[in-house]
Amino acid sequence: MKFSLLCLTAACSTLFFPAVLAGSYSINQTNIGQDFLTNFEWEDIADPTKGRVDYVNQSTALANNLTFTSDDTFIMRADYTSNLTASGLGRMSNRIKSYAQYRTHVAVFDIRHMPQGCGTWPAVWEADDQVGTSSGEVDILEGVNDVAPNSVTLHTTGTCTMPESRSQLGKTLSTNCSSSDTIEDGNNGCSVDAPYTASYGKVFNTYGGGYYALERTAEFIRVWFWSRNDTSIPSDITSGASTINTGKWGTPIALFPNTDCNFASVFQRNNIIINLTFCGSWAGSSFNNNGCSGNCTDYVNYNPSAFEDAYWDFASVRIYQPSSNSTSGAPSLTRNDGRLGTLSSTALFALLAGIWLTWL
Ligand SMILES: *[C@@H]1O[C@H](CO)[C@@H](O)[C@H](O)[C@H]1NC(C)=O
Ligand SMILES: *[C@@H]1O[C@H](CO)[C@@H](O)[C@H](O)[C@H]1NC(C)=O
Ligand SMILES: *[C@@H]1O[C@H](CO)[C@@H](O)[C@H](O)[C@H]1NC(C)=O
Ligand SMILES: *[C@@H]1O[C@H](CO)[C@@H](O)[C@H](O)[C@H]1NC(C)=O
Ligand SMILES: *[C@@H]1O[C@H](CO)[C@@H](O)[C@H](O)[C@H]1NC(C)=O
Ligand SMILES: *[C@@H]1O[C@H](CO)[C@@H](O)[C@H](O)[C@H]1NC(C)=O
Ligand SMILES: *[C@@H]1O[C@H](CO)[C@@H](O)[C@H](O)[C@H]1NC(C)=O
Ligand SMILES: *[C@@H]1O[C@H](CO)[C@@H](O)[C@H](O)[C@H]1NC(C)=O
Ligand SMILES: *[C@@H]1O[C@H](CO)[C@@H](O)[C@H](O)[C@H]1NC(C)=O
Repeated sequence: MKFSLLCLTAACSTLFFPAVLAGSYSINQTNIGQDFLTNFEWEDIADPTKGRVDYVNQSTALANNLTFTSDDTFIMRADYTSNLTASGLGRMSNRIKSYAQYRTHVAVFDIRHMPQGCGTWPAVWEADDQVGTSSGEVDILEGVNDVAPNSVTLHTTGTCTMPESRSQLGKTLSTNCSSSDTIEDGNNGCSVDAPYTASYGKVFNTYGGGYYALERTAEFIRVWFWSRNDTSIPSDITSGASTINTGKWGTPIALFPNTDCNFASVFQRNNIIINLTFCGSWAGSSFNNNGCSGNCTDYVNYNPSAFEDAYWDFASVRIYQPSSNSTSGAPSLTRNDGRLGTLSSTALFALLAGIWLTWL
């Protein structure tokens, strides 16, 4: 009896059932308020998507209040006061990139507000922009011209395709992650549409935003979304816990499995990037189809006040890494399945019963 009671501890169950560790991660970096200023680089580069934007460095952003921090707030906004000239620079905005790079990790974004308005093209994504698509790219939250819902998309090189039907809440839009078909419809790469309009733009903001979470391993990529007043947000997310368990987060909005995609080779070390551009190849070309009238570039140039709500407000961004770096402790998709968890418990009970009978 004594032995079986002792064996009910986590250490014992871990010894016999390392699967219990599935989906367990520990905090690696917490970004709240001023933390963003030290952990991210402001990339004052030319926009690769040819948007009507002027990405500024950190000192310019702070000086113009385009970046603002307090103890619990991090805001990045577009300039909404300057009337531009056609021959001059684009609208000032921020593009930030984490200094750290990650392979297997979880990133939890607590977002109170995202940029909205005609002509806006905001994104929270992971990539190595020095390397390009051969490092793999995950677009976690991205869209244009306020059109909901959010699309989660992978961009890869080489062979990487996704099954049509997966264990996800969202809708599969396209399955070839290496596809270079036109970006106009947002369908290049492999895309999954979130099942809620509250996942993007004005409706997202109306509800006070919410949480996006990404889990990337060598075997799969998953993205979850919870609107702010959703009643089923996992408590380790709302509390900003130092250890989390993705195995208890339920079905994600998007799942990208390794059925026909070698994640370990098509995804390398990536940065977290957050940007807001205007018009450009996607927002510009679909401007009129998305209920915005006129010419996108002219609209951005001559309607500064239209961009007052084109801002990000982050409560936090937390990065987690696996709690154990042993092979058996690595997060696994199958072990994150609730049914297998039940099997482990059953097996544990059977073993304990066996020990108890032997003891007798
Ligand atoms: C976070 O991860 C990086 C890279 O793996 C590592 O160098 C650093 O020590 C970690 N920090 C913490 C607090 O775990
Ligand atoms: C902004 O982010 C999206 C992420 O999907 C990326 O495709 C696009 O190139 C980025 N735009 C700029 C201007 O960096
Ligand atoms: C930031 O950009 C401004 C405007 O281009 C420039 O004058 C300034 O030197 C830059 N600051 C840094 C630290 O690079
Ligand atoms: C800077 O922006 C913050 C957040 O939007 C705002 O609360 C603050 O009043 C602004 N400061 C100035 C000097 O405009
Ligand atoms: C995926 O797209 C790439 C680039 O367009 C193409 O070469 C490849 O054949 C496509 N793969 C499949 C399975 O359709
Ligand atoms: C969230 O808040 C919105 C707006 O107040 C409301 O319409 C919606 O029913 C709420 N959803 C939940 C799940 O509470
Ligand atoms: C929008 O106007 C700009 C000049 O301001 C022009 O270069 C561009 O071709 C126009 N775009 C469209 C789609 O008409
Ligand atoms: C901005 O400039 C354009 C052309 O120079 C002018 O037509 C427009 O009224 C101006 N807008 C504002 C808000 O000053
Ligand atoms: C990870 O593995 C290395 C090498 O086996 C070991 O030195 C290190 O302590 C381990 N770290 C953790 C967090 O288990």
